[in-house]
This record gives sequence, structure tokens and C-alpha cells, in this order.
Amino acid sequence: MAILLAGGAGYIGTHTAVEFINAGYEVVIADNLYNSKAEAVRRVEKITGKSVPFYQIDVSDAEALRTLFSEQNIDTVVHFAGMKAVGESVAKPMMYYRNNLNTTLTLLEVMKDFDCHRFVFSSSATVYGFSNPVPLFETMPRGECTNPYGWTKWMIEQILMDACAADPELSVVLLRYFNPIGAHESGLIGEDPQGTPNNIFPYITQVAVGRRPQLTVFGNDYDTVDGTGVRDYIHVVDLAKGHVAAVPYAEKHTGAEIINLGTGRGTSVLEMIAAFERVNGVKIPYVIGARRAGDLAESYANADKAKEVLGWTAEKTIEDMCRDGYRWQTMNPMGYPEG
Ligand code: NAD
Ligand code: UD1
Repeated sequence: MAILLAGGAGYIGTHTAVEFINAGYEVVIADNLYNSKAEAVRRVEKITGKSVPFYQIDVSDAEALRTLFSEQNIDTVVHFAGMKAVGESVAKPMMYYRNNLNTTLTLLEVMKDFDCHRFVFSSSATVYGFSNPVPLFETMPRGECTNPYGWTKWMIEQILMDACAADPELSVVLLRYFNPIGAHESGLIGEDPQGTPNNIFPYITQVAVGRRPQLTVFGNDYDTVDGTGVRDYIHVVDLAKGHVAAVPYAEKHTGAEIINLGTGRGTSVLEMIAAFERVNGVKIPYVIGARRAGDLAESYANADKAKEVLGWTAEKTIEDMCRDGYRWQTMNPMGYPEG
């Protein structure tokens, strides 16, 4: 039996592939390379010493997905295949709704045809919206999203809960990621955003290697420890291990279970810059700019449920995240090569 990683050539998917293989699972990757490179899959093979079946397909293409399911013995799907750039989703909402919802619906339909009942989904802390106080608990109501990307996560969560209500065999784990950063310690795989990074950590690593002159800190007048935004950064390898822990849980349960994947600790933008400089011995020049529309002052998880239900806890520190992320960027200053 194998685990299908839909969108598995991307940042989180490649790290998750490595951790599944290390834990003894067979994995199959399906990805249309919309936001990734085939080289990333080869790097997973290099790290693990195992060959990974790779299907370059759009997972909303039902026929292509059926071919994959008929050739591979898939018993669990982990669904990473989505578009994730917040600003782009505001400019191209239809593209985001079509891609992110269709990939989910097609996966569910084809899974049913092939008697596959376990589904793990990449949701986001963005579904908590603006009104909930920190720390964020899974029992809190979902909030209002500020952009179509966030709404796709919100809607997909609803679709998956409805699908579980209608199908007593279906088991879904909705993993709400906080802020994944860092890279595998080999430096062979990491985050490779196309164009200007939207998120802070890849921006910092690109400044660190001289690709960009400075970071703009989006506001220093929030009601936080030092006025800058606070987030729950989680090492991508810890996050990947959270998926590995979700599979035995999904095997034993049915229905939809929402689980935060975070550390439970908040770090401000200035604390992140200071940690990065200290650990790596590099200077990150920055200027203070205006607040970014749609940003929260603080977002961090209560991470107790993952510990209770999955037996999983994040182990790596901010220092590990800074060290490993910088190693990836120095070894691959321009990201993955083409091809
Ligand atoms: P990523 O862009 O690196 O990976 C997503 C992968 O999905 C890419 O390789 C892309 O080519 C592929 N893909 C997109 N549409 C596809 C389609 N129709 N068919 C086949 N492949 C398709 O992003 P990531 O950071 O690895 O994120 C993975 C998932 O986790 C996404 O769903 C994202 O929304 C979610 N998530 C990410 C973060 C984060 O901060 N990175 C936070 C919360 C949730
Ligand atoms: C952003 C998205 C969110 C998405 C998440 C993961 C917005 C409004 N939110 O969240 O929907 O789920 O990424 O993809 O885009 N910062 C700077 N300078 C920068 C970049 C960021 O100061 O150049 C600050 C931000 O103001 C924030 C913190 O760094 O306080 C983290 O930002 P980011 O990495 O973009 O993550 P989120 O804001 O949590």
C-alpha cells in the first residue's frame, strides 16, 4: 500500500515525502509542477535513497488520477495540491476557487471509486479569522477570511466535513498549519518561491544571500511584545512528521478531525530577525514600513490536541529553523535548477 502525496513536489510535500519514507511508508507523488520543479522529487530520492513514483498530472484531471490509482495501490491521500499566494488569489479569485476546490473534489470522487477512505488535508490557521483570541484552539469557531485563498481553505474544510457526514467509511484529518519555515537539514530541499516572496522567512533568507537588499517590516505599532507581528513558526520537518503521525490515527477513526500543527509559541518579526542574525552570523538589513492589509497582530496555536490525539509535538527551535533555512538558501541561492 502507498500514500499519495497530491502536490507532493512542493515545499511541504517534499519534506513530508522524506519523513514518510524514513518511517517505512511507500509514497507516490502527483504534481503538475505549477509551483515546483521535478528536481525537488529527485532530491527526495537522493536524501532517502529510495525511488519515488512521480506523476506529472493535474489532480483535478479525473482521468489522469484514475490511471494513477489503477497503477498504484493507494490507501491514503495527503492533499497539498493548491495555490497559496494570498495577493494573487485576490487578483485571480476564480483561478484559486477552481483549482483548490476542484483538486479536492476530484480526489474525493476518485478515491471513492477505488475504495480509498483516508484523507489528510493541508488547512491553515487563516481559517480562524480575526475575532478569535490567541492561543487558537480547534474548538473555536472559524472566522471571516480576508482573501480568496483563505476562503478556499475554509470551504474545503466544510466540503470535507460534509463528505464525512455522508460517508461513514471516510476518515479525514484537517491539519491547520501555522507558519512552516526552515528546511531539511541536508540543505537539499527547501522553500523555493517564484518571484518576490510573500512570506517573511524566504524573504529573510534571500536578503541573507544578497538576492534582495533589505526586508521591510510590515508595521511596528501592533499591540505585541515589540510592536511587530507575532506568529507561530514551525519547522517544516516537524510539520512533516505531524502528517506521519496523522496516518495511524486516520486508520483507526472515521469522521473529520481538526488538528492544529504549531508549536504553541509566538515569535515577533524583530525576534525572528535577531535569531537569524545570531545563529547564522549574517546581518539582515531592514526598514520599518506600513502594516500589510489583512495582517493579524498575533497568531499562535494551542498545540495540546496534536499531542493528545496524534502523540506529536514540535521539537525544533527557532534557531534550528534559522540555521536550516539559511543552509538551504546558501546551498541553492537561486532555488532549484530548471528541469
Ligand atoms: P507549494 O506551492 O510549494 O506546494 C503545492 C504544490 O501543489 C506545488 O508543487 C504545485 O505545483 C502543486 N499543485 C497546485 N495545483 C495543482 C494541481 N491542480 N494539480 C497538481 N499539483 C498542483 O506550497 P506548500 O507551501 O508546500 O503548501 C502545501 C499546501 O499547504 C498548500 O495547499 C498550502 O495552501 C497549504 N498551506 C501552506 C502554508 C505555508 O505557509 N506554506 C500554510 C498553510 C497551508
Ligand atoms: C500569510 C497569509 C496567510 C497564509 C500564510 C501562509 C497574508 C495577509 N496572510 O500569513 O493567509 O496562510 O501567509 O502562507 O498574506 N512580514 C514582514 N515583512 C515581510 C513579510 C511578512 O514584516 O516582507 C510580517 C507580517 O506582517 C507578519 C509576519 O511577518 O507579521 C509573518 O508574515 P507571513 O510570513 O506572510 O505569514 P502570515 O502573515 O502569518
